[in-house]
Amino acid sequence: MFGAKNYYYCTCGQSSQQPFCDSSHKGSAFKPLKFSLDEKSERLHLCGCKLTSQAPFCDGQTCKKIVAGEPFEEAKRAYEEAQKAEQAAQTPQ
Ligand code: FES
Repeated sequence: MFGAKNYYYCTCGQSSQQPFCDSSHKGSAFKPLKFSLDEKSERLHLCGCKLTSQAPFCDGQTCKKIVAGEPFEEAKRAYEEAQKAEQAAQTPQ
């Protein structure tokens, strides 16, 4: 049961409390995604692949493409953007 309150979705994939942030992102370019629920909910479909188009929720398409091994340009682009952000965060200003 999820209560009506704020949550922090892990966007970096390093949290040991998936899909929620445990602050393992610190020192990286990633930030958790804050989302809230207005009502109590029995079930949530949160994204586990981190590539959904509707973060933090599963879009029902992206993970199926990954599992099916389909060519997936969105995943490649997201990976490249994350690498650039990571490099920018590590570059001294
Ligand atoms: S631990 Fe992944 S975003 Fe915070």
